[in-house]
Amino acid sequence: MDMEKLIQALKEKEKKYKAGGGKEKVVAQHNRGKLTARERIDLFLDPGSFVEIGLFAEQRAKNFGLTEPLPGDGVVTGYGTVNGRRVVVAAQDFTVQGGSVGSMHADKICRAIKMAQEMGVPFISLNDSGGARIQEGIEALEGYSKIFAHNIDASGIIPQISVIGGPCAGGAVYSPALTDFIVMIKGSNMFITGPQVIKEVTGEEVDGESLGGALIHNQISGVAHFYAESEQEAVKIVKELLSYLPANYLESPPVAAEEGYRRVLELNSLIPVQPTKVYDVREVIKAIADFGRFFEVQALFAPNIVIGFIRIGGETVGVIANQPKVKAGCLDIDASNKASRFIRFCDAFNIPLLTLEDIPGYLPGVWQEHAGIIRHGAKVLYAYGEATVPKITVILRKAYGGGYIAMCSKNLGADLTIALPTADIGVVGADAAVNILYRDEIKNAENPEDFRQEKISEFIELFGNPYYAASKGIVDIIVEPAELRNQILAGFKFLKSKKIKKSPKKHGNIPL
Ligand code: HXC
Repeated sequence: MDMEKLIQALKEKEKKYKAGGGKEKVVAQHNRGKLTARERIDLFLDPGSFVEIGLFAEQRAKNFGLTEPLPGDGVVTGYGTVNGRRVVVAAQDFTVQGGSVGSMHADKICRAIKMAQEMGVPFISLNDSGGARIQEGIEALEGYSKIFAHNIDASGIIPQISVIGGPCAGGAVYSPALTDFIVMIKGSNMFITGPQVIKEVTGEEVDGESLGGALIHNQISGVAHFYAESEQEAVKIVKELLSYLPANYLESPPVAAEEGYRRVLELNSLIPVQPTKVYDVREVIKAIADFGRFFEVQALFAPNIVIGFIRIGGETVGVIANQPKVKAGCLDIDASNKASRFIRFCDAFNIPLLTLEDIPGYLPGVWQEHAGIIRHGAKVLYAYGEATVPKITVILRKAYGGGYIAMCSKNLGADLTIALPTADIGVVGADAAVNILYRDEIKNAENPEDFRQEKISEFIELFGNPYYAASKGIVDIIVEPAELRNQILAGFKFLKSKKIKKSPKKHGNIPL
């Protein structure tokens, strides 16, 4: 054989394997409204940057009709760049045996995660699969075990992002669940047991979409972090997310074009002085951020707390803010889980934390207590307390009781506490305080309401402002709202060199 023939043979084999399950299956995939694995990779990576690894891999099992080779064993893996930065991708190919996971398929994904981990670059998994390959039995299940172990090993070393672009059922959901962020595309599903099994076991009737569709996991369960209307939108989300993140835990996030110091006059009127008047804290975040850009995470879930990324002076900052517009910005179970996981992600990847506090406390209620608000709320304390990245806490307005502490109080570990003149810090609000402290006196007063109001004014005079806390060394800086951005920018510039050495231990025991 001469070289030309060898090259010809290679090209033909390449063409055959790149065709995946063949034309018919590709048409069926498009008819389901989905792109193929290769189309997804092309959409995601910089043009021409993809280098495939394992194109010629085939399934190991030959049982139950699996006589023909399955190209790539149903998953396309390799490396490339996104906006010039290296990433590793694995895209399940639904056109090949429904993207089902056989042992070779699993090995390819594990190899991809390991490569990403060793090179210190993000791993992105594009999921679209019928789950464990039925014909491979226990080997398929153990394939998943291996994938999970690799996800766990890479956790906290490199960012791991999952995009769900089709079915994701049974134990298969746990690979995405072990990664840092999940983007679900409209029409995709995630569930442990499907509608059929649920009907048999509990008698409940539900369809796949209402059980585990993209909106359900973004709004109700909190399993997903982003909702995408289309494949294109999912790619846009992942690219923007990556732009805020370092490639690994030893690096700092990339620095973008910097916006410098500026007064933000609108902040002087954005936060109402009256403690019960609502406003949208996202407007405050945007006013503080460089170029007004806020990349919100889990926007649809537990909206009483707002989390996401901004840049200040060109550097990535993770923001956690109470949202007075929803449940008065109280911390409940969902909000606690949402905030604490985000705080831990930021801490793992050297992203400083900005906390914007306007909180009346933890949400009261029998359901919350019985469902374990003590256990879940403790996660927020733990996450802030163990985080070693720079932490700035801003008291925008109310900061009462356990809520005050949970939103990164001074002694929980805030490096700088800044208050606005609207700050009102206390065990409880003035109204509640007076009702408790002067219960008998109010009852016996000649004019109970006048007496109550007089005591409320006294209470506000003493505690309902930031000066008492500042006099005790708890609030470091009090600023006019228009100067808030400048103080935060100066603060993070100063805190950049922060280095904390923790006592050695195996690992802590975060309440779960
Ligand atoms: C082998 C599979 C498969 C699987 C799909 N296929 N899932 N082959 N093992 N798990 C094959 C189909 O037979 C079909 O082959 C092709 O992929 C496309 O599937 P369709 O059914 O035509 O597609 P669609 O109508 O879109 O339905 C997709 C689906 C359905 C909802 C995923 O295929 C399905 O219910 N599959 C079985 C799901 C399942 O029970 N998986 C095991 C889950 S348990 P042909 O040759 O006809 O094109 C699990 C445990 C993991 O995953 C545990 C980890 C710890």
